[in-house]
Amino acid sequence: MICILGIETSCDETGIAIYDKKKGLLANKIHSQITLHQKYGGIVPELASRDHIRNVIPLITKALKKSHLKPKDIHAIAYTAGPGLVGALLVGATIGCTLSYAWNIPKIPINHMEAHLLAPMLEKNKPTFPFVALLISGGHTQLINVIKMGQYQLLGESVDDAIGEAYDKTAKLLGINYPGGACLEKIAKKGKKNRFIFPRPMIDRPGMYFSFSGLKTCAANIIFENNTDPQTCSDIARAFEDAVIDVLVIKCRRALKYTGYKNLVVSGGVSANKNIRRHLTQMVKKEYRGKTFYARTDFCTDNGAMIAYTGMVRFKQSLNQSMSIEVHPKWSLLELPKI
Ligand code: KG4
Ligand code: ZN
Repeated sequence: MICILGIETSCDETGIAIYDKKKGLLANKIHSQITLHQKYGGIVPELASRDHIRNVIPLITKALKKSHLKPKDIHAIAYTAGPGLVGALLVGATIGCTLSYAWNIPKIPINHMEAHLLAPMLEKNKPTFPFVALLISGGHTQLINVIKMGQYQLLGESVDDAIGEAYDKTAKLLGINYPGGACLEKIAKKGKKNRFIFPRPMIDRPGMYFSFSGLKTCAANIIFENNTDPQTCSDIARAFEDAVIDVLVIKCRRALKYTGYKNLVVSGGVSANKNIRRHLTQMVKKEYRGKTFYARTDFCTDNGAMIAYTGMVRFKQSLNQSMSIEVHPKWSLLELPKI
């Protein structure tokens, strides 16, 4: 039996989980900071760090209790070492490294984006290698050729804003509280198709790169020219989401064609969006007779389960009792060692 404790503190969620190699996920605890940051309209990094400090240890205690384990039953500690907010990362890394030293067990620094990519592996219906991964989160939009576990090739990424950032900025312009992605999806459902038309950036160029910064500018211009009654807000949200979906479908189609793969994995916070899921699943099934894999909704956004699972995958690369505590606010998953 190998049990890994996972610690996630890269942004605005404190996530703690315990993953057992044989039994799977034994505990998953989360504390969201959304209400803390909402009144500022976005994440305040210093408040995020302080809140992680308050919550990591109590959540570890709860996770151990839930799984009926004692510290002596844990074999390694996996913590998010990047990418993310430097102060927030340092909280999880410092607590993780300290516990690893105190409990005399190895520590495993985890890349947050690799953990998002692997989150669908926590489901019963797991993807098999190779596949194309679409990573869509608050900080990233990337298409990755996943040759096998730990072997990644970049196919394309956003040249400016990440898709989640575009969702949040457009939502803010529409008067929706931070983080607005999920709420924008909700109001878009009531929107009239084609009342407004947003551009589909970079679809006329070959390749798999994205650009999303123009969408919030388009939303700002439409809002400036129109009354923002609830129906108009819904129509704008619908137009925004229709444009985003068209772009994602076109770029994923290209990625599958380029790699010759049939399967697509979609992960990261934005993959919780049901409308995006529906369109991508349809395209993959109809055009490639392939399958699309997602994590359960709770595991699309940040969580400790994906960190503990990735810790299990990279267990052999764990570090023994070095005293250094390192974090990497910018850390591409392409720099990761092979497994
Ligand atoms: O993966 P995540 O929790 O954090 C990062 O690693 O960035 O992603 C957070 C992002 C936010 O931008 C949030 O608005 C977006 O995911 N998001 C959504 C939905 N749920 C969360 N965007 C669109 N539709 C949703 N249902
Ligand atoms: Zn994330």
